[in-house]
Amino acid sequence: MLFATPLARIKLAGHDVLDAALLAEGARMRAASEGVQKSNRGGWHSDGNIFDNPAACIQSLQKAASAAIHDLTRQVTSRVDPADLDMKLNGWMNANPQGGFNAPHTHPGAHWSGVYYVSQPAVDEGNSGMIEFLDPRSDLPNWRILQANSFRPKRKIRPDAGEIILFPSYLVHWVYPNETADERVTIAFNATFRKKRKKVK
Ligand SMILES: [Fe+2]
Repeated sequence: MLFATPLARIKLAGHDVLDAALLAEGARMRAASEGVQKSNRGGWHSDGNIFDNPAACIQSLQKAASAAIHDLTRQVTSRVDPADLDMKLNGWMNANPQGGFNAPHTHPGAHWSGVYYVSQPAVDEGNSGMIEFLDPRSDLPNWRILQANSFRPKRKIRPDAGEIILFPSYLVHWVYPNETADERVTIAFNATFRKKRKKVK
């Protein structure tokens, strides 16, 4: 396949304990900060880089996310070992209440973007809780008649709590409004690789 788009889904083992700790830490952060307005419409978006927070649950998620990003990077290239590069991971927490959603956006400048689902309210039907990706190639509507999976113009998934999803940062994505009375809480992040700086002796 030419110009394929990787999308990885990684379920963290024993995530219930981690999720409870992340929700408690999120509540503590929200009590201390009003947050910022980014792609979120309604709800709360933490400010700064969440991974600067030394709380054990945040650091444990950073470790899991970094490992998943290294694994995925090794699947798309054998020429570079991501461990030989510096990787900056910048993250934030999103809390989407009823009606809250994230408008379509990309994360320019980063390589990989990801989302960890801390809580994902269950639904029987509809699009609540779904994240949708839009294919960056042009003229795809013309291909609809062939119903070819790799030429579909968009694709939506509903990740579960405890799942990390990873995708290239250039991919346009957005989140459907939360149609439940419960909050959806996620930690989103961007990973950017840079050449390691040579040590000055
Ligand atoms: Fe995003």
